[in-house]
Amino acid sequence: MIKGRHIIEPTDLSVNEIDQLSTLASRIKSNPEKYLDALKGNLLATLFYEPSTRTRFSFEAAMLRLGGQTIGFSEPNSSSVSKGESIADTIRTIGCYADITVMRHPKEGAPKLASKRSNIPVINAGDGGHQHPTQTLTDLHTIKSLKGTMSNNVIGFCGDLKFGRTVHSLVKALSRYENITFIFISPPELAIPIYIKDILSNHKIIELNSMEDILPKLDILYMTRIQKERFFNEEEYLRLKGYFVLTKKKLELAKKDMIIMHPLPRVDEIHTNVDNDPRAVYFQQAKYGMFIRMALILKLLKGDNHA
Ligand code: NCD
Repeated sequence: MIKGRHIIEPTDLSVNEIDQLSTLASRIKSNPEKYLDALKGNLLATLFYEPSTRTRFSFEAAMLRLGGQTIGFSEPNSSSVSKGESIADTIRTIGCYADITVMRHPKEGAPKLASKRSNIPVINAGDGGHQHPTQTLTDLHTIKSLKGTMSNNVIGFCGDLKFGRTVHSLVKALSRYENITFIFISPPELAIPIYIKDILSNHKIIELNSMEDILPKLDILYMTRIQKERFFNEEEYLRLKGYFVLTKKKLELAKKDMIIMHPLPRVDEIHTNVDNDPRAVYFQQAKYGMFIRMALILKLLKGDNHA
């Protein structure tokens, strides 16, 4: 179905394809032995120009668990990037060695540029404050698995909605589903960008500066950290850090079946005393991320002819 394509934005996949990936991810999760050799002989390259824990490790784990192998860098200064090599030349070189590549870059649009020069599929693993399509696949797969459907939910996004690429990406993907109410909870300085709100012209949107009043209405609460690395000055970051902290006490206001998601890493926006609450699904979400990435790599390399 999607063999050989680049994945730069979440909408590079249709709703139907995302559904199929989610089904495949669940199948892999329940029968991992069947896929142990599915990508034997294939190589995935990870090009990380920005720090990462979950995205890089889950891609590497995904490839290894499918019988493939991985190469890459997690620190661009250990590659010829430090000698001034362009993205275009790096990607053409990587294409000589690997079958598929995953790229994270601090500049918006860098993976897209790479895809134009690449002869192997490029997957965007996060570009600046722009998009993060595989976190979105992770989030959609989590919602589908735990809530049954994307549609008909009241979803609260809380934290740094200005710079948080996982929010931008997820909102874009969710705009294609029915009857979702989007609640954006942020300090005024970190409000959701207008270009993202414009995507939601057919949906209900509410913008707020605090979470307490709305908590009882939410089906899903998507927390995010304040994105320190995207701030121009440290003082501003320190002022806004700690603006929202979800605690056990506040959670008493929420529905019993609300789920709390977070792309992670967490700084201080969710108190650790929330972690044992059955509604806190962020570590489960990280695990779903590996299975959906397994499904994605498999489809991009093998189409429908996988094991
Ligand atoms: C996110 C990212 O890199 O955008 N992390 C992730 O991939 N799970 C979220 C973040 O860094 O805040």
